[in-house]
Amino acid sequence: MTAPILSPPPLFTGEYFQNPYPAFTWLRENSPVHPLTFPVGNLPMWLVTRYEDVRAILGDHNRFSSDAPRWATEDFKKAGMAFGTGTVIEQILSVLDPPDHTRVRKLAMGAFTPRRTATWKEPTEQIVQSALDRMQRMEQPDVMEFASIVPAEVIGRVLGIPLDRFKEILHAIERALHVDPEHTDESTKAYQEIVDYGREVITEKRRNPGDDLTTTFIDARDGDDRLDEDELVALVALMIMVGLDTTRNLIGSGVLALLDHPDQRDLLRAEPQLADTAVEEFLRYDGALTVALIRFTKEDVEVAGTRIPAGSTVIAALQSANRDPAYFAHPDRLDITRNGDARHLGLGHGLHNCLGAALARLETRIAVPAVFERFPDLSLAVPRSDLRYGESWLLRSLESLPVHLNSKE
Ligand code: HEM
Repeated sequence: MTAPILSPPPLFTGEYFQNPYPAFTWLRENSPVHPLTFPVGNLPMWLVTRYEDVRAILGDHNRFSSDAPRWATEDFKKAGMAFGTGTVIEQILSVLDPPDHTRVRKLAMGAFTPRRTATWKEPTEQIVQSALDRMQRMEQPDVMEFASIVPAEVIGRVLGIPLDRFKEILHAIERALHVDPEHTDESTKAYQEIVDYGREVITEKRRNPGDDLTTTFIDARDGDDRLDEDELVALVALMIMVGLDTTRNLIGSGVLALLDHPDQRDLLRAEPQLADTAVEEFLRYDGALTVALIRFTKEDVEVAGTRIPAGSTVIAALQSANRDPAYFAHPDRLDITRNGDARHLGLGHGLHNCLGAALARLETRIAVPAVFERFPDLSLAVPRSDLRYGESWLLRSLESLPVHLNSKE
């Protein structure tokens, strides 16, 4: 019999990043509203891990704000934790509170009609097939390379952006999101590059409008209301920033989850119509974000009997909520037929829920089954224990996923 663990398992250590789920289990059971010192900038924060509390926080924008410029502490900003401080990205949709959020979100949402989403299917299928061709030619095939190509090419296409300059922007995003309190200037510079690029894209689209999201955002109107220039730039920059690594990680973790669960992989191959529920299960089982989502308390609040003072930083831990056994039967098991359990929170919840959800779902439901369709005998090329996740507080990201293709073709 193992002795009960009396003190919390270490958080944000090498071991935690490889597998945070045992720590989440401990926290849900023993300290569901947990005070901690966040390693970046040594910031005090509260980590909330139970499903019902996480969901309640995300649904309560009156007391829990997303607006870092307004509600975050100076130390939080100084540590570089607030997106795009000093640039228009500071005012991106994801950090606005109502009523600004309501207005911008409504205008942006208008671009994501079901008819428009349907037009992205065919290009996504083509991009996936050509990325698989490339994987087939690789000497050491790596699913994460495939998983990077798909969202980058899809978002470029959807926004109407040529791919050549896009590579530089991908690099800028990487630099911007690499938070290092010692080098916040470097990150601000990278954010500014993303903003400048957003402006370029908008200028170009004004000259040559197309059937793409950027043009739709430029034209978006609601009565007399429309997006002002900075809002437009911030929105385009946000779409580029948030749609890439998240989707990459989900495609990668979906493929790995099926490699780890051959019964589920065989089931998906036998019943391809399960792809939709499979994507939801990938989002629940091992989603794309490590520490998400951050909110700031606007007043003193009580969560699960613990008082959190006004002005605190709270992490609503999506991945922990998604493994809460009070809401998901056998939460550590991948089950692509899962239904009847609670709704997962992998794409957020409440006012800020993922604006690009339809695109993220479309890409993943095409990309993951296509990998196994093309390479039915796909297997890991390294021992399972050699796979590493990046030690990023933001994204849950496999560094690489080397495979043997063993294609029967
Ligand atoms: C698997 C891929 C994705 C995951 C896991 C994901 C996850 C999320 C989550 C959890 C939020 C909530 C943020 C919050 O409440 O603070 C969010 C918001 C957002 N996502 Fe995604 N996302 C994905 C893909 C995308 C894509 C492809 C796009 C765009 C093309 C996108 C655009 C956005 C935007 C604009 C918001 C902000 C919405 C708002 O604040 O109203 N996401 N996403």
